[in-house]
Amino acid sequence: MFIVVGVTGGIAAYKSVHLVRRLVRAGHDVHVIPTEDSLHFVGLTTWEAISRNPVTTSVHEDVARVRHVSLGRSAELVVVAPATANVLAKMAAGLADDLLGTTLLATTAPVVVAPAMHTEMWRHPATVANVAVLRERGVTVVGPAEGELTGGDSGPGRMSEPDEIADAALAVPGVHDLAGLRVLVSAGGTREPLDPVRYLGNRSSGRQGVAVALAAADRGADVTVVLAHADTDVADRVRRHPRIRVVDVGTAEELQHAMTSASSSAEVIVMAAAVADYRVAEVSAVKMSKKGDAGLTLDLVQNPDILAGLAAARRDGQMVVGFAAETEPDRELLLERGRGKRARKGVDLLVVNEVGWTRGFDRTDNAVVVLGPDGAVVAERQGTKREVADALWDAVVARR
Ligand code: C5P
Repeated sequence: MFIVVGVTGGIAAYKSVHLVRRLVRAGHDVHVIPTEDSLHFVGLTTWEAISRNPVTTSVHEDVARVRHVSLGRSAELVVVAPATANVLAKMAAGLADDLLGTTLLATTAPVVVAPAMHTEMWRHPATVANVAVLRERGVTVVGPAEGELTGGDSGPGRMSEPDEIADAALAVPGVHDLAGLRVLVSAGGTREPLDPVRYLGNRSSGRQGVAVALAAADRGADVTVVLAHADTDVADRVRRHPRIRVVDVGTAEELQHAMTSASSSAEVIVMAAAVADYRVAEVSAVKMSKKGDAGLTLDLVQNPDILAGLAAARRDGQMVVGFAAETEPDRELLLERGRGKRARKGVDLLVVNEVGWTRGFDRTDNAVVVLGPDGAVVAERQGTKREVADALWDAVVARR
C-alpha cells in the first residue's frame, strides 16, 4: 500500500522513525513528508534511509512531477504522527502552505492523526473544536495517551506508541477496501410542488446520505449520488469529490427515474433520501390564492416506493440498502418495525434510526441499528453521520 507519513514538529517525531520502519517492514511503500519545523527533531537523511524513498519538505522540488498533489493522489493511507496542535488547526482550516498541507488537501485516502502536545494545548477549546471538525470529516484520531510529557508534567498529550498507531492505521475501515466498487446513493429530501412557489417537503439536510457517499468514495468506490434537496454546504462536499458524480433531482418521480437509470451499473445501492410518500394529484400552474375560512384541502396521490422497486428488480450480486427513520422511542418496538419494513421492502440491509423534533434530522450526529436479511442486528453505531456511514460500509463489506 502507498502510505504517506506526515511528521510535524514535536519531540515525539523520534518515535515515528519506528512507525515508518514498521510500515516499511510490513511491505508498504512509505513516503515521509516532514514539516520544516520537524527537521529540528529528525533530519531528512534518517527519513530517507528508513523509508527508502526520497524525502522533501518543499513544494518547489520535483515540480515536473507535480509533487505537491501527486503524493496525495497516490496515497492509499495518510498518517500524521506526531500531529501538533498547529497541524490539527491547519488541517481543520484547510491550509496548504507546505508539502504536507497540499498533500492533505489533495488526498481522498483515509487520514489518521496521532496528536502529541502538552495537556493544556490538547484541552484548549480551539484544539477540541479542530479535532471535532476533523473527526466529522472522517479523520481517525489515535490517542493521545496519558503519561509523562517533555516538561516533566503529565496528563493526556503523549503520542501513542508507534505500534499502536500502525495497528490503528492499518485497521482503519476504508483503507481503500471499496476500490472500484460501483455505488449508487440517494440523498436529501424530495420536494413535491403544489404550485410554482410552494412544495411539500421534509426536514432532511442530506447530511447522512452525503456522508454515506463521501465515505464510500474515500474508501475507493466510484459513486453516483442522486441528490434531492440538500443544504448547500452539504451538497458542495459531494460536488467537490473527484470520485463522485452528482445527479440533481427535485421530486420523488425524478428521483425514481434517476435511480432506475443509474441502477443497472451499480453493485451497491443505498437509498438514504427522504422521499415524500405523497404528491398532489394536480400541480397548479399558477400560484394558488387564499381560500379564506373555508380552508384548503389538497388531493394527494401516493408516490411509488422506489426502494421496494429497486430491491424487486435487483440483479445477481447487487446489494440494496434502505433507511428507515422512525419516531418510535422504545428500542424493541423500533426494531420490530424495522424488521417488518426490511421484509416488506425486500432489501439486504436496513438502517434503522430514531428521529424526532430533536433527533436525526438536521444534525451532525446520528444513532443507527443495521438489520440484516434475517432481521438480525448486524451493526449498531452512535456517532457522527460519517462514523455511522463507515459502520454501514463495514456491514456491506462483511456481507459481500
Ligand atoms: O417506508 P419508509 O418511507 O419508512 O421507507 C424508508 C426507505 O424507503 C428509505 O430508504 C427511503 O429512501 C425509501 N423510500 C422510497 N420511496 C418512497 C418512500 C421511501 O424509496 N416513496
